[in-house]
Amino acid sequence: AVERTLSIIKPDATKRNLTGKIVAKFEDAGLRVVASKRIHLTQAQAGKFYAVHSERPFFGELTEFMASGPVVVQVLEGEGAIAKNREVMGATNPADAAAGTIRAEFAESVGENSVHGSDSPEAAAEEIAFFFSGLELVG
Ligand code: CMP
Repeated sequence: AVERTLSIIKPDATKRNLTGKIVAKFEDAGLRVVASKRIHLTQAQAGKFYAVHSERPFFGELTEFMASGPVVVQVLEGEGAIAKNREVMGATNPADAAAGTIRAEFAESVGENSVHGSDSPEAAAEEIAFFFSGLELVG
């Protein structure tokens, strides 16, 4: 089925000017950017987005990092977009990420791992609504 998923290009990647290279990998895999914006989150906003991780020991580090610079939030659309996006990103920890994936090529550590992608249809719907209104989605 054609799905939509929420992607974030994280501060470590925007800082190193990798936005285009990362988007190219998604597009090459057949995903289409149907919404996109560059924003700078506050730590409180990052905490709201990552609320499911609020009890994790790395929550403070995660939200501080996500507020440390600009991010590019995008909605990617395509056949099986949620799984495809995760495949192109590679494993969360770059040490475990398959060759050719975004995290294998670009991520610096498990925390500064260049990209985020929704992990389920429920998360995708929630995360897209967190950043975008329906009017901003242009398929
Ligand atoms: P992401 O897909 O954005 O979802 C939650 C994030 O938490 C994850 O990617 C990692 O970047 C981050 N994360 C997971 N484990 C750790 C860890 N041990 N230390 C710091 N950050 C982590």
